Amino acid sequence: MKRRAKISAVAHYVPERILSNADLEKMVDTNDEWIRTRTGIKERRILEPGKATSDMGAEAVKKLCAQRGISPEEIDLIIVGTVTPDMFFPSTGNLIQEKVGAKNAWSYDVAAACSGFLYALASGAQYIVSGMHKKVVVVGADKMSAIVNYKDRNTCVLFGDAAGAVLLEPDEEYGIIDYILQSDGSGAEYLRMKAGGSLYPASLETVTNDWHFIYQDGKQVFKFAVTKMAEVSVQILEKNNYKGDDLALFVPHQANLRIIDAAVKRLGIDYDKVMINIDKYGNTTAATIPLALSEAYQQGKLDKGDLVVFATFGGGFTWGSALLTWGMDKPRA
Ligand code: UT7
Repeated sequence: MKRRAKISAVAHYVPERILSNADLEKMVDTNDEWIRTRTGIKERRILEPGKATSDMGAEAVKKLCAQRGISPEEIDLIIVGTVTPDMFFPSTGNLIQEKVGAKNAWSYDVAAACSGFLYALASGAQYIVSGMHKKVVVVGADKMSAIVNYKDRNTCVLFGDAAGAVLLEPDEEYGIIDYILQSDGSGAEYLRMKAGGSLYPASLETVTNDWHFIYQDGKQVFKFAVTKMAEVSVQILEKNNYKGDDLALFVPHQANLRIIDAAVKRLGIDYDKVMINIDKYGNTTAATIPLALSEAYQQGKLDKGDLVVFATFGGGFTWGSALLTWGMDKPRA
């Protein structure tokens, strides 16, 4: 039998504070109707000052351990997908490790923007499949409010803060079947945070020019995202001889409802098989897929043996999909 990486627990954390479309109307020249019809977003969560990405990630990991009934000391490895690390170094994985007391784990971060969770998941699964580790935690967490310019209506309506996490363990029956992972660096100029790295270290000029905020050419990114996310969603099924009908749940990256719609049309699946929570949280970058997965699990949308596809698209450009069979029982009511 082939050894697979099975998701054996899933949890999330969202901050309490809600930033609604009505709140944003008071901050920039925008309106609820535009935001809802162009993106599908109604509100997003904002982390309190003084807290960072590792605080949200740690909360998600604590819930994960409680759900699985394990001590954090049993975790072998923590991988964190994020573009908003607490600081350049140490890694946010290291900070989460300390906050949850995962004393026996090693940890690192993966930078792949919105695809950070999927890239980290693919990496984490390799340690399970190879037999190197038995318990790998994969986190997707972003405090987007730290890099959003709340004077820029093109971006400030889109993003929110959240964290999600899964535990990977070896299994011979259920788990991750396949991935498609891709990147295209020619997309770098369309979605990025220009300064703060080695090319443009912080200076009066970088601050004055708003280069420490996220920049997005929405139209260009949309064109790629709408095509690529739909493409990889269909490809992963075809590659493994499945059809849209075989799918129990599609968990797409939540950047724009219109991008999700395009993928759903290409897959030819019913809407009740699609997990959508962009309305409540906006685009939480690396957190969207584990957050959506965790809510889907809590809502009883997943049962043992279900075929599931994750799909993502993000800055870089980075995109991809994963195919798995769900291996957890429904949560007890
Ligand atoms: O997660 C990582 C990957 N990111 C994505 O996948 C995001 C991809 N892009 C998008 O989702 C969409 O391009 C946006 C939601 C960002 C923008 O939607 P759009 O339909 O592409 O709008 P647009 O940028 O073409 O702008 C249309 C109009 C413009 O006005 P004019 O030039 O037509 O007069 C904008 O200035 O809407 C205006 N606009 C706004 N109006 C009210 C832009 N932002 C706003 C706003 N409120 N917040």
